[in-house]
Amino acid sequence: MEDNIFNVMLTARERFSARRSMPRKLIVAIDGPVGSGKSTLARRVAAMLSYIYIDTGAMYRAVALKAMRNNIAFDDVSAEKLVALARATRIDLRAADGRQQVLLDGEDVTAAIRTPEVAQGASKVAVNPGVRHVLVAEQRRAGEAGGVVMEGRDIGTVVFPDAQLKIFLTASPETRAERRWREHQQKGDQINLGRTLDEIHERDRRDRERTTSPLVQAEDAVLIDSTAMEPEEVARLVAMLARERESAAVA
Ligand code: DC
Repeated sequence: MEDNIFNVMLTARERFSARRSMPRKLIVAIDGPVGSGKSTLARRVAAMLSYIYIDTGAMYRAVALKAMRNNIAFDDVSAEKLVALARATRIDLRAADGRQQVLLDGEDVTAAIRTPEVAQGASKVAVNPGVRHVLVAEQRRAGEAGGVVMEGRDIGTVVFPDAQLKIFLTASPETRAERRWREHQQKGDQINLGRTLDEIHERDRRDRERTTSPLVQAEDAVLIDSTAMEPEEVARLVAMLARERESAAVA
């Protein structure tokens, strides 16, 4: 077993309602590029199905934040120090009221991991095969019992290639940049729309071109382009697909 400890904690109420209302607990894998609306979709679908929501990007972000704080370089693909750091890191993902709280070695970093710097750092950290190995093992442990909506870049291809429902969510780069920009505006962060678009292109390239587990659509994934769709519309569509597959799995 790895030294790394990863926990998904649920409130007693969530655990009870998840068990009671599910005929067959599926694994729903949602992958896609930055800003495609994965988090909003995954959260909504999890609430609709009474499933647990797991955002795996938060784990890469937490490792990046810790590396930044410890002045550990993450550009070097074979950086042993970074792998050792990931192994020695405790990440707790707490599900409470449908949202995910992220604890890094016991410290609440839910807001601290959402800066553009940490986002860039996370996509660099994610290139490291050793770090991915550590985090993927924890993600499998967290989701293997089913009843989860897990979002990331490699959930349907690597983490759970046998997931019963896989969604590949996308949108035009301009739409994705505008959504990201709006999110930051709402938080009161002044960021530039043009720069946001450049950063999205940069992260897309790194996520798609890395050797280990690049961002690709699984062959059996349902492709949804959310450019011209309302979030609620996308969520209803995915929840409907999940219910169909739940029934098929029971029959
Ligand atoms: O989804 P996000 O923006 O929070 O993810 C941050 C970075 O982490 C992203 O640029 C790529 C990486 N990531 C990954 O490689 N695999 C995942 N399953 C999730 C995220």
